Amino acid sequence: MIEITDVQKVLGKLRDPETGQTLMNSGRVKDVGIRGQYIQCTLVLPSLQATYKETLYQTIQKEVEQAFPDYQVHIHMEVAAAGSVASSPLPHVKNVIAVASGKGGVGKSTISVNLALALHQAGLKVGILDADLYGPSIPTMLDLTQSKPKVEVIQGAHKLIPLEAYGIPVMSMGFIVEPEQAVVLRGPRLAGIIKQFITDCIWPALDILVVDLPPGTGDIQLTLVQSIPVTGAIIVTTPQQVAVADAIKASSMFMLDNVGVPIIGVVENMAWFTPAELPDKKYYLFGQGGGEKLARYTQTRLLGQVPLIQAVQELSDRGKPAAIQKDPLLSQPFAKLAEETIKQLQVRNDTLLPTEIVRITTN
Ligand SMILES: Nc1ncnc2c1ncn2[C@@H]1O[C@H](COP(=O)(O)OP(=O)(O)OP(=O)(O)O)[C@@H](O)[C@H]1O
Ligand SMILES: [Mg+2]
Repeated sequence: MIEITDVQKVLGKLRDPETGQTLMNSGRVKDVGIRGQYIQCTLVLPSLQATYKETLYQTIQKEVEQAFPDYQVHIHMEVAAAGSVASSPLPHVKNVIAVASGKGGVGKSTISVNLALALHQAGLKVGILDADLYGPSIPTMLDLTQSKPKVEVIQGAHKLIPLEAYGIPVMSMGFIVEPEQAVVLRGPRLAGIIKQFITDCIWPALDILVVDLPPGTGDIQLTLVQSIPVTGAIIVTTPQQVAVADAIKASSMFMLDNVGVPIIGVVENMAWFTPAELPDKKYYLFGQGGGEKLARYTQTRLLGQVPLIQAVQELSDRGKPAAIQKDPLLSQPFAKLAEETIKQLQVRNDTLLPTEIVRITTN
């Protein structure tokens, strides 16, 4: 007689060709059972079009039959319910947070990197996906400009292994092409690459995948929401009116009925300037109140205010992010931002349904 755990052990060794996770971990296989001479299980697929459906089916069949030659294997196939974890191409990633803004240069990448590191320091498993394909700045900010991701072959498919910086996995276009080549990419190629960064990458199990977006509401934003359920967006603005006006456009895109990505909150970056020699002074170079205004518009919270600090920029350029520095003047704003983000993410998950992948229908 064999036990269910014996079968689970065999299945536990097989890897999901999409995510690189073991089948049991990725939640693709459930309801393992034994009835007489039959071993049965359910294979949960994100869609019936999943290209790896056949490969996966045959691999399970072969491996289980080889391990238990006296038994016959019955595999049921099921399409994951919309909005369920299994409907995500990364079912082992619990939350995807997109960091967006309307305007360029307001500090999205700085906030993405430092927020991710502060969340990691708070004990969460975090990854960073740099979705700014034509201006990737994450490699510089994390001192990864000299590194290239490794490739692993899983059941015949080539998969990229994200690089690691300060304990968190990171994927960026900057690891693959030289920054000056990135600018020539256009529409369909951009979409293909975003999809590859999600499905052709072996992301470990994560609590939060932080996605750093380019400015605006273009192809990359739309591709992202069509490729993975985005749990929520964080909108970055400076206190200035023009930045707020643009940020409102960016938030509106996520809030569209057929996009349906909730805003988790707002970050006001460059909120004030504090010179190193006068740590108690605050100079409001870009005005005041922009973050609050945007939070009111999006009916969310101001998650944090990050001052303009010369060292934040200098450390960023040297690949040594502020969030992990000992000096509390540098790390505190990001630790507070992470704390508030965790709170508001919890509120979002407690009160709203999971986001569904946006499907574009033509009729
Ligand atoms: N709080 C801050 N204090 C000091 N410098 C900052 C701060 N935030 C960002 N910067 C600097 O401002 C510049 C722009 O920041 P960053 O690249 O993060 O913006 P971005 O919104 O991602 O830009 P893009 O739209 O080009 O992607 C960088 O040089 C960065 O180091
Ligand atoms: Mg950026």
